[in-house]
Amino acid sequence: MAWDKDNLKKIVKAKIGSYKFIIVSNREPYIHRFFEDEIRCVTPVSGMALVLNIVMQICGGIWVAHGSGEADKDVVDFNDHIQVPPENPNYTLRRVWLTKEEMNGYYFGFANEGLWPICHNAYTRPIFRKSDWDMYRKVNEKFAKIILEEMDDNEGFVFIQDYHFTLLSKILKDKRPDITVAQFWHIPWPNEETFRICPWGDEILEGLLGNDLLGFHIRHHCQNFLDTVDHSIEAKVDWEKSSITHNEKETLIRPFPISVDFKKIENMSRQAEVEENIKRIKKDRRLKNRLIGIGVDRIDYTKGILERFKAIDRFFEKYPQYLGRFSFLQLGPLSRIHLQQYKNYNDEVYHLMVEINEKYQFKDWQPIILRKTYFSQEDLINYYRLADICIVSSLHDGMNLVAKEFVASRWDNDGVLILSRFTGSARELETALLINPFATDQFADTIKEALEMDEEEKKKRMQRMREIVEENNIYRWTAKILSEIFKLGLEEI
Ligand code: F6P
Repeated sequence: MAWDKDNLKKIVKAKIGSYKFIIVSNREPYIHRFFEDEIRCVTPVSGMALVLNIVMQICGGIWVAHGSGEADKDVVDFNDHIQVPPENPNYTLRRVWLTKEEMNGYYFGFANEGLWPICHNAYTRPIFRKSDWDMYRKVNEKFAKIILEEMDDNEGFVFIQDYHFTLLSKILKDKRPDITVAQFWHIPWPNEETFRICPWGDEILEGLLGNDLLGFHIRHHCQNFLDTVDHSIEAKVDWEKSSITHNEKETLIRPFPISVDFKKIENMSRQAEVEENIKRIKKDRRLKNRLIGIGVDRIDYTKGILERFKAIDRFFEKYPQYLGRFSFLQLGPLSRIHLQQYKNYNDEVYHLMVEINEKYQFKDWQPIILRKTYFSQEDLINYYRLADICIVSSLHDGMNLVAKEFVASRWDNDGVLILSRFTGSARELETALLINPFATDQFADTIKEALEMDEEEKKKRMQRMREIVEENNIYRWTAKILSEIFKLGLEEI
């Protein structure tokens, strides 16, 4: 069955009935900010928040998340609730307030300096501080208290997002064994040897095994998780069934490759104003009448932006006939900039861009243009459509939704996707040009191959990728994951 918003909505509504549905994540789907004399509502730079927002609009219920905007407190009611989406409210956002100390320890410290680097093979050393871990535990407890308050005496489901909440499911289940708890891990799960580095690894595993269902993007990460548990704690790992029993409680481990709203992106991309916007953007003298490559990433060391720039440098060294003919546009909003590793990475990206530009630029042309501002999905679609090639060169990535958004927006079947083998998306988008971002020479040759690919070949590759993303869209992901959750609490959909 082809899943879309309408058929999923009908089935979900019928199944959920009186059950309460609560989603939990660190990042909230809407952020309120002060702009001069008014408060504006913006969406965060987060593929996770974008797709989960679609799920919530279908399921309804409550989304519990950290209130991170400076104007967030001014718009909630006395329960810290606000109805969203602003244009057509149909679910509740419950904001959780965290102090600076809590954010530093739980989010910047343990989650992003500890867990993030050990889960990604990007060769950035993880930092584990006892004080961060203590704060991380405290914040997981704080979220648990709020979720239980929201659940009240109702029967229901809690669907937790990501590595910020490894202890949450166990805390919830200890207090309310009757509720169904599932968690989706949006980043890779490392191999057992790497995970062992974490000083509180066993507590994390026991925390995660509070879930009835634990999802990863790909089977390989499920296997890494099963293997990590097998080597670490007293638990029965059933490889056949892909489940773990710990303290007489079973957790199912399943792959669910996340995706995008294919139809919505395609429709947005077909709007007449996109053509107008493309013309306007291409008026920039640095882009006019040139072949254009784009990259869209948060400035994060896992995204392989330096490796991408090095490959572009090598490409111009090897193929000087492209000097002045090809420009690369990197769109990259700043991220987690409080952290030293991110500050350094941001500087390195900037300096490398300047170095490459100085090496080759002439007249009104420069090889790399870097824009660090925020781009909404609507803005990005213009860039996806105007690009001759799109480069995703993550050193390691759970899925990578930029690759799928690019494909969904190319209804013209044009454009070539260069995609890192180390992303979850590469398992599905096999007709992209797959690269190893560390292999600079091959990467440079792949840029040339992409720019010189004949129209028929481009079309064939893009059509295949589009079929895959159209079928495995966000509604299918939601249906599959909810089906497993409902099987545990209700019947399958
Ligand atoms: O993929 C991991 C993740 O934390 C997502 O939840 C989110 O989309 C992205 O990284 C952005 O990170 P942050 O919320 O820390 O800005």
